[in-house]
Amino acid sequence: MGSRIVATGRALPRTAVTNQDLARFMDTSDEWIRSRTGIGQRYTLRSGESLVDIAADASRIALSRAGLKPADLDAIMVGTVSSEYSFPSFACQLQNALGADSSAAFDLAAACSGFVYALSMADATMRIGDFQRVLVVGTDALSTFVDWSDRRTAVLFGDGAGAAVLVSEPGDRGVLGSVLRASGKHWELLSCRTSGVRSPLDSEVRRDREETIKMKGPELFKIAVKSMEEVSRQVAARAGVRIEDVNLVVGHQANRRIISAVAERLGLPEEKIFINIERYGNTSAASVPIALDEALEQGRIRDRDLVMLNACGGGLTWGANLLRW
Ligand code: ACO
Repeated sequence: MGSRIVATGRALPRTAVTNQDLARFMDTSDEWIRSRTGIGQRYTLRSGESLVDIAADASRIALSRAGLKPADLDAIMVGTVSSEYSFPSFACQLQNALGADSSAAFDLAAACSGFVYALSMADATMRIGDFQRVLVVGTDALSTFVDWSDRRTAVLFGDGAGAAVLVSEPGDRGVLGSVLRASGKHWELLSCRTSGVRSPLDSEVRRDREETIKMKGPELFKIAVKSMEEVSRQVAARAGVRIEDVNLVVGHQANRRIISAVAERLGLPEEKIFINIERYGNTSAASVPIALDEALEQGRIRDRDLVMLNACGGGLTWGANLLRW
């Protein structure tokens, strides 16, 4: 028995913040941000908005497309580092918001790799028969983790949620395999001392500087490219698939130049790479499921296509999943 994604959904905060908006209070420009990152705008959580509600919206869309009710779920797995509470977990808060009860619910903290990690765990637990219907969500609000006076990090991140419903199924479609990796020794390349949504952009209250995202961008850039290439090759080899047979790569949207460099190293042409960073920025664990949902909406994925998901993020963590759609 394997697991297959039968439906996806996405949801975003109400407010889009363009590069020009940022340039009004920060020493930056649309030209710099676009040319170095590919980002044109991002959605940022505002005071009074709840990331759990946004994740619930994405989940309801995925559930309704799957023809399932929240009560049908056996488990909810959430890739996030943005839970407002240490406990209950984000997944338990989401379960409550969906009006479901008694399914297993837990979070996976792997920063930007959160969805790829959670999808791998969902697939593994479904293969051994623990669960038949699983909701996998990637959601973060890293715009609320940045130091808004640090132009090197503040321009990169946006907020949102993406959801996927998996059902267990015999046959050769679905998740073919996953490879997950981490390197704790590189933790200082990207870190934040506290977790949890706090002081959004429109709030008067600012995070203590010590509790904002610290990033060594250029070093991270090189490791991200190398690690995502490596894990993409490994997951393909493990599944017995040639990289050139992959129909679409839906990768973590951290930086357009990172995505293009990974594609180039894998020898894949641009039409096989899905990129939507221009409208969302880096939404951390939400980026892969938001991109997957858009790729499906745009008809970029057809039945039986080979779809590769890959990501790299704080930890450092990285990983890839290969799916037969
Ligand atoms: N606006 C204008 N100028 C800026 C800005 C900005 N927002 N940010 C930095 N600069 C300036 C710097 O001050 C520097 O000027 P200086 O040379 O006078 O000091 C110059 O631009 C170059 O800065 P670098 O940091 O060297 O720029 P780089 O080309 O490396 O781009 C970036 C920075 C975009 C962060 C890049 O390194 C990157 O994308 N790294 C990967 C990091 C990442 O994606 N992190 C997200 C999470 S990890 C992951 O998801 C994989």
